[in-house]
Amino acid sequence: MLDELIPSLQDQYANIPASLQSNFLNSVVKKTPVEWSRLWKLFSFSNGGNVDSNGNVDLWQSPQCFSAKTLPAELFASLKREGAAYFQRGEVAMLTVAGGLGTRLRYNAPKGLLPITHIKGKSLFQVFAEKLEALKKRYGHPIHWLIMTSEETDAATRTAFKEHAWYDPQYVHFFKQGIFPAFNDEGHCLLDKNGNVRYYPDGHGGVFKALERAGLIADLKTWGIKFIHYFQVDNPLIVPGDTLFLGLHIQQNSAFSTKIVSKRAPAERVGVFIEVDQRIRLVEYSEFPTNKLDEQEPSGILKFRHGNTGIHILSVDFIEKCATLALPIHKIHKPIETWDFTLDQETTSMAFKFEQFIFDALPYANKAILLEIDRAEEFSPIKNETGEDSLATCLRDQQNRWKRWIAKAARFHEKNLDLEAINLENIPVEISPTFADSWDEFSEKWRSLEKLPDLSKGLFLS
Ligand code: UD1
Repeated sequence: MLDELIPSLQDQYANIPASLQSNFLNSVVKKTPVEWSRLWKLFSFSNGGNVDSNGNVDLWQSPQCFSAKTLPAELFASLKREGAAYFQRGEVAMLTVAGGLGTRLRYNAPKGLLPITHIKGKSLFQVFAEKLEALKKRYGHPIHWLIMTSEETDAATRTAFKEHAWYDPQYVHFFKQGIFPAFNDEGHCLLDKNGNVRYYPDGHGGVFKALERAGLIADLKTWGIKFIHYFQVDNPLIVPGDTLFLGLHIQQNSAFSTKIVSKRAPAERVGVFIEVDQRIRLVEYSEFPTNKLDEQEPSGILKFRHGNTGIHILSVDFIEKCATLALPIHKIHKPIETWDFTLDQETTSMAFKFEQFIFDALPYANKAILLEIDRAEEFSPIKNETGEDSLATCLRDQQNRWKRWIAKAARFHEKNLDLEAINLENIPVEISPTFADSWDEFSEKWRSLEKLPDLSKGLFLS
């Protein structure tokens, strides 16, 4: 039976202690024969990525994208009104992908639990919860929040939400993503010391099938949700209530919309949007041809500069369609731990992991659009332990954003705020999303403050 799944399984079965063979068999059947055979083919024959389906790289174009800065004022206002109407009617839900551990940060827990604010030390999840609480207040009803976890993050995430009561449990919906095995270079599955096949998260492209398995697509329809605002767990600057983004998605009849930032440098580790045959695609940074990274437009600007932020709006109808698709599977070659039964110890060997990416659904969207955002206001992900995109740069970017608002408010609202005297640069500031989550909100709230807060020792507003 094992041979029929993939050739190496029988061999592996024979080479583990007899007392553990039943564990092995029980763990193998977590994936279906069709799934085993698809992964084996991928391992044996193809590169599995989506680069090939993006056609001849010489024909890649830089895609068109919208920008709030260039939209005519009247259109801008009407898009915002339209977006707001959908929020008002409760037709928008949030979705956070939180299957990743903070391994790159050397944080051995779900990344969403990482404390990331300067004064109160709030976790990423708490910050998101407060953003959604603020939306509830604004629109008068709670917002459904879907959180995708993995085998590794599920229990700890649920426990933390229970302990801290960050969000009304009736409106937070955890669902677990799928799993894939990994093969070492000889084609053997990675195992644990009990003979079980080790499984790993199947990538955020697994989100569609995971929603379906959890019955959440049906729930979304029952709740009357038409749009999902999707974001990654590592970016506390996300603005989930952006009515312009939603308004544009609707007006453009888009199925899959993305916020993009201009790349800081050609080698920045962000996926890049390209256009092929008049359709938008995303090529992940790990698969982007290095000889194209520096290409320039005739004007001298970087040609492939539209960096993926992982902030999307997806229409629920489109999500339903994607749940029926077999998205491409990407192979990732990296050192991974496995139990070696010959040496009777844990060893590390080069192996292939498999992942699906949500943006591989783009070719199935009738229409997809891009909206360029201001990185300083909306994008500062925490990826690395040090250097760019680390906790340190994110803390800096949060402070800068809030201090920009204060400085601007001081200029606009004629309150007697002497920025030099209070030495704004050197005081700690933290503004809870329940106070304001954008300049517009901040400006309004600041204006209505009866008395200016004493800024001399720092400022916390909530
Ligand atoms: C990701 C994007 C990249 C984008 C960048 C922006 C991918 C493959 N690439 O890169 O195009 O420019 O973010 O910050 O996503 N996750 C799961 N389950 C998984 C794998 C990931 O839930 O199996 C979640 C993570 O928890 C995280 C998000 O997906 O919220 C992105 O994963 P991450 O590994 O951080 O992707 P990057 O390589 O940084």
